[in-house]
Amino acid sequence: MKWFFYVIVFIYMFYRAVYGSKSIQKETRGLSIENIDYGPDKAYYNAGVRKSIICKGTNKNQKVEWINPSGNVVQRVVTNRVFTQEHFVPAFRTRIPAMVLVISHTNLEDTGVWECRSGAVKRNVSLCIIDPSEFVDTPTEVTVDRGRSITLSCQAKGEPEPRLLWHRNGEIITEDVNPSKYQVMTKYNSQGFEGLLTITSLEPQDSGVYNCDAIQESPNLDDCTASTSLNITLLVNYAPMFEDGNDTALVPGKENESVDLVCASNAHPTPIYRWFKEDGDILSEFSKDEIKLIDDGEKAVLTLVANESTFGQRYRCRSSNLYGEVDKIFAVLKLEKPRKPTEISVENVTHDAIHFQVKWHGEILFPVDEVLIQYMEFKSLLKKRVGTPRDVDWKKAEEALLKIDGYDIVDGKSSGFTLTLPELNEKTEYWVRVRASNEAGDSLWSEPILASTVEQPEIELVEEVDDEPEPVKAAQISDGTFYGIFFVGGILVVGIGCMFAMRMV
Ligand SMILES: *[C@@H]1O[C@H](CO)[C@@H](O)[C@H](O)[C@H]1NC(C)=O
Ligand SMILES: *[C@@H]1O[C@H](CO)[C@@H](O)[C@H](O)[C@H]1NC(C)=O
Ligand SMILES: *[C@@H]1O[C@H](CO)[C@@H](O)[C@H](O)[C@H]1NC(C)=O
Ligand SMILES: *[C@@H]1O[C@H](CO)[C@@H](O)[C@H](O)[C@H]1NC(C)=O
Ligand SMILES: *[C@@H]1O[C@H](CO)[C@@H](O)[C@H](O)[C@H]1NC(C)=O
Ligand SMILES: *[C@@H]1O[C@H](CO)[C@@H](O)[C@H](O)[C@H]1NC(C)=O
Repeated sequence: MKWFFYVIVFIYMFYRAVYGSKSIQKETRGLSIENIDYGPDKAYYNAGVRKSIICKGTNKNQKVEWINPSGNVVQRVVTNRVFTQEHFVPAFRTRIPAMVLVISHTNLEDTGVWECRSGAVKRNVSLCIIDPSEFVDTPTEVTVDRGRSITLSCQAKGEPEPRLLWHRNGEIITEDVNPSKYQVMTKYNSQGFEGLLTITSLEPQDSGVYNCDAIQESPNLDDCTASTSLNITLLVNYAPMFEDGNDTALVPGKENESVDLVCASNAHPTPIYRWFKEDGDILSEFSKDEIKLIDDGEKAVLTLVANESTFGQRYRCRSSNLYGEVDKIFAVLKLEKPRKPTEISVENVTHDAIHFQVKWHGEILFPVDEVLIQYMEFKSLLKKRVGTPRDVDWKKAEEALLKIDGYDIVDGKSSGFTLTLPELNEKTEYWVRVRASNEAGDSLWSEPILASTVEQPEIELVEEVDDEPEPVKAAQISDGTFYGIFFVGGILVVGIGCMFAMRMV
């Protein structure tokens, strides 16, 4: 008997919780408009299409109406451009009324918030209609000679009227960026808007793709926008030039092994290459078969065997196109192991790293592939000892092997590079020495130096200002949780109440 009573109470509470909350839903969420799906990567319908949107009512006896963005009820007159049609949608044991909004031929004025109404209940839907820009009469590739100026034009037609924007490599081009280089203008003519970008004193680096964006924004609705883009490729004609200058290139070669002389010049149009061997004043040309073109003809490679007949010999590469020609001399050099570094010096230090320079005086005629650094804490040596560490001391040193990228032969008087020794202890003095290596072998160790890291600077305490996390959490407690707690609380109260009631009885 007691249990029977509990079960009744439980079922009643359950019914209230589930059905009760549903009935609230029914009043506020009953009216439903089908979702607007513009399609992938699109936030608008093209002007001119036919569009119908269904709005389902709730109550059998309540009629459904559509209100246009201007606030007028849409009439059920099929001959109008915009009209409504009534439908009945089968539902559980009944049929509910629905109203279909039909726009037979969308235009820009249809952009805005449409409202569906059934009695006091209202639903809104935003509609975005755009006539997307089309580019008219716009060349997509332009070729101009170096030193000249060019005006790129981009003409777009669409509604709402497009705003034209130029950019290149993701950066917007405005006159403010570089007024002596770019001028931006917009013109209006019978074809629509025309964006003009003038680039003056063209240089090879101006070659590339310029993007013209036509951006349309509806004045009637936020986020009702479209953007169409056109790419214009600008090619600047110029005579060949060597990126690393015209100076003689020294190419190291291991004895009796093959060595590649790579002649790479920048030019437009793509240059024609010729290779010569110099015998005094006489040039003897290599045949085409002996030359390998790579990177779509951008580079010409002459492969030789490095031996007594090629060491010291001069080879000439000639690159030419319609706009000029340029020569560069190459010489094969016997690959030798690096010389002992002339000096190492500290460039700067932090609390955990030492940046230092390795230098050689005089001509450097060897490449460096990697550098081995040995280092040890000064205080790890016996206190009484003075002077530099001995070989036995270095046996205990730590090592770091650094790859040196692109340190080919530099034909300078004094040259070197900067190295970083990271992950050191703060405020500690170290002995450091280095050794350079290449395919031919290792150099001697440099003279060691002493270098100290500094104290770690105090880290500023930046208080992370969280956006008031607690109120956010409070707000996150959803309706569901609320009803859940309410429901459980209700059961407890009623349950306890019933127990008392039973006792009384
Ligand atoms: C629907 O849109 C109209 C006009 O923008 C606005 O006044 C109304 O409050 C909106 N109604 C709802 C339920 O969002
Ligand atoms: C236009 O250029 C941009 C970047 O320069 C590129 O991402 C895009 O694919 C190009 N579009 C066309 C149609 O070539
Ligand atoms: C290289 O040689 C060409 C042709 O002789 C010359 O026009 C150019 O200025 C030279 N470049 C450099 C960097 O000296
Ligand atoms: C290279 O080849 C020549 C001739 O065959 C030979 O005399 C010389 O020893 C070789 N050099 C090396 C380093 O192998
Ligand atoms: C150098 O190598 C080339 C090609 O293998 C060979 O013809 C020439 O005899 C070699 N010269 C010497 C001095 O070994
Ligand atoms: C220290 O030198 C290195 C290497 O040249 C450099 O990258 C770094 O910016 C320098 N640091 C300071 C604080 O000067």
